[in-house]
Amino acid sequence: MSTLNTIESITEDVLTAARRTLSAQRYAHVCSVADLATTLARRFGVSVRKVALAAVAHDLDRERTPAQLIARCGDWNAAVLEVERSTPILLHGPVAAERLARCYAVTDPVVLAAVRHHTLGSPLLAEPVHAPGLLLYAADFCEPLRSWPSEATRNGILRLDSLPEMVAQIIRVGEERWGTVEEPTAQMYARLLETH
Ligand SMILES: [Fe+2]
Ligand SMILES: [Fe+2]
Repeated sequence: MSTLNTIESITEDVLTAARRTLSAQRYAHVCSVADLATTLARRFGVSVRKVALAAVAHDLDRERTPAQLIARCGDWNAAVLEVERSTPILLHGPVAAERLARCYAVTDPVVLAAVRHHTLGSPLLAEPVHAPGLLLYAADFCEPLRSWPSEATRNGILRLDSLPEMVAQIIRVGEERWGTVEEPTAQMYARLLETH
């Protein structure tokens, strides 16, 4: 494989695209997620390279309008869920995953699933091979620049002993706040409890 196509060089290219196209605040969030995600990857023995690429890519399309996201999903024939269609901002996950595959030639299904499912999660991410996706879900929620959850809640989650426990706690915290859990998230929660 040429140097140009290594996962590290793709990660650099995606990070440059994020810096050029996102607002300063969103770019800071992306860098903060990548910092936390790679720290957690080392702690839990998850692939740092896969996690870093998924983290820098996850919000590449977060600042597109709903109309742009819907149009992009149509152009790229992206498979989307009903809940994503009815709340189009959620489409930024599937669109960013398609962008990685189409514009950056990323083929790793674990990296693509991590980006695809970072907003609502998926029972797929409970499978051990998809630990990078579970980790991105946790880092996106716990990165310290977010105004919510509180530092105490965040630290309580980060102190837990395992990644599945952290994600299960994140889902409970979200349910307490929003009073509801979307179907893919609930399915991921059930699968985490079954398998860990
Ligand atoms: Fe996002
Ligand atoms: Fe994010």
